[in-house]
Amino acid sequence: MEEKARLLAQEVNEKLSNVSTLEEVNELRVMYLGKKGPVNELASKMRDLTVEEKKVFGKTLNSLKQELSDNIEAKIKFFEEEKLNAKLSSEQIDITLPSTKIAVGAPNILEKVIEEVEEVFMSLGYDVVDGPEIEEDKYNFELLNIPLGHPARDAQDTFYIEDERILLRSQTSPVQARTMIAAGGDKPVRMICPGKTYRRDSDDATHSHQFMQIEGLLVDKNIKLSDLKGTFDVIVKRLFGEDIETRFRPSYYQFTEPSVETDITCFSCKGKGCPLCKSTGWITVSGAGMVHPNVLRNCGYDPNVWSGFAFGFGAERLAMLKYGISDIRTFYNTDLRESKVFDRRDV
Ligand code: DAH
Repeated sequence: MEEKARLLAQEVNEKLSNVSTLEEVNELRVMYLGKKGPVNELASKMRDLTVEEKKVFGKTLNSLKQELSDNIEAKIKFFEEEKLNAKLSSEQIDITLPSTKIAVGAPNILEKVIEEVEEVFMSLGYDVVDGPEIEEDKYNFELLNIPLGHPARDAQDTFYIEDERILLRSQTSPVQARTMIAAGGDKPVRMICPGKTYRRDSDDATHSHQFMQIEGLLVDKNIKLSDLKGTFDVIVKRLFGEDIETRFRPSYYQFTEPSVETDITCFSCKGKGCPLCKSTGWITVSGAGMVHPNVLRNCGYDPNVWSGFAFGFGAERLAMLKYGISDIRTFYNTDLRESKVFDRRDV
């Protein structure tokens, strides 16, 4: 019996030294240490032994079992480690590789300029209001002193939606009328309205069938043209710099009287003359004027008591000037690289 145990140990150890996979070790374990294996078979022979022999052989059998399972476990551990090492080296991370670039967005440059303008006006107590882009003829033209059939309508190349009454607003000026009517004719109004406008223009470097305006309106008592000039001066200096001068040139709009074209010192050449200002030293940035008495009356304000000024900036024009953009289509072609370039530029 002792001899059998020794031979068995020898046999298993020899086989263990020849195995080359984890599966083979497991097979050996089942084969030798399993219920029907030779170790258990030896153990079953114990019952034929004397008490003394049992004592001795019991010990042998225990140490045989211990030795075999230790050796098998060691082999299993060896293969498992080998497997893990192979996995680790195949999945090795090369920390010297360049990292993946994460795409970071940038604010839309037009939105940024509009927000700047909004902030300046809000600091002067103006509300930022909104109006519908699908508008009634009444607000877009009639209340603004441009009656049906008036030639001033032709200049705006309007997109009509349903006969001549519903249209895509061709300017943000209808929001003036809406705001005054909503205010009820008995209190001051200070608002700006940035928003989309539409005209049947062919798109090119300076025209877009859809563009943005920033409308402004102030109505109160004793408002004079000099208030418009003063306000305009503050705004322009905040937006473009303290050294920028303003000037008004006479102009014509149906809804203002008098009407002006507002110019600022060319910030590229500081007034000396350059290609940007076509050598004039000045750049036109908005139309403006004193709210026409008819408009005040149409919108519920008594022109003998109330007066006001209004202005309209082209938002793209402001952004183009500020950031040196030469093509209005830049704002609408969704090329992220452009937003990024202008976002980093500190003007
Ligand atoms: N709505 C005018 C346009 O689209 C711009 C404008 C001029 C707005 C004078 C005004 C203003 O409020 O007073 O050409």
